[in-house]
Amino acid sequence: MSKTAIVTGSAGGLGRGIAERLCKDGFRVVLHDINEALLNETVSDFKEKHFQVIGVKGDVSKRDDQFNLVKETVDQFGRLDVFVNNAGIEAVSPFLEITEEQLNRLFQVNVNGVVFGTQAAADIFIKQETKG
Ligand SMILES: NC(=O)c1ccc[n+]([C@@H]2O[C@H](COP(=O)([O-])OP(=O)(O)OC[C@H]3O[C@@H](n4cnc5c(N)ncnc54)[C@H](O)[C@@H]3O)[C@@H](O)[C@H]2O)c1
Repeated sequence: MSKTAIVTGSAGGLGRGIAERLCKDGFRVVLHDINEALLNETVSDFKEKHFQVIGVKGDVSKRDDQFNLVKETVDQFGRLDVFVNNAGIEAVSPFLEITEEQLNRLFQVNVNGVVFGTQAAADIFIKQETKG
């Protein structure tokens, strides 16, 4: 049976490239992004190439969204094998101009997002392992 991978932030950029590589390697891939319009476009492009994909919209900085992402994956594909914490943002501005708002958002997405994604993946990996 082919393996299943989630790639967060895979509607564009590096995440899309990672997702395409995994599809070509025979994975079923869950495309995921906060940008729903771009996500839908990418899902359509991948389906045209006959890749086995679904799209799930979500924000990695929200713990519930990350657990929902894993739940949707298991509901659709039966299991999860790989979780790629790709989604991330940057704020390039002169050091003295970095605002509290910018810094908080960076940490919410780049730090909290990775922790919540890893938690959601670990939760399902443990359940799959104990089921055998
Ligand atoms: N491109 C580089 O040179 C480079 C270098 C080092 C690290 N990175 C990291 O690699 C990752 C991908 O980089 P990229 O250049 O492809 O970025 P990108 O901005 O082109 O793509 C990131 C994708 O993540 C999505 N995204 C943003 N916030 C999100 C959120 N809260 N929840 C879900 N999706 C969200 C965006 O909509 C976008 O589709 C990022 O984490 C980035 O920090 C990139």
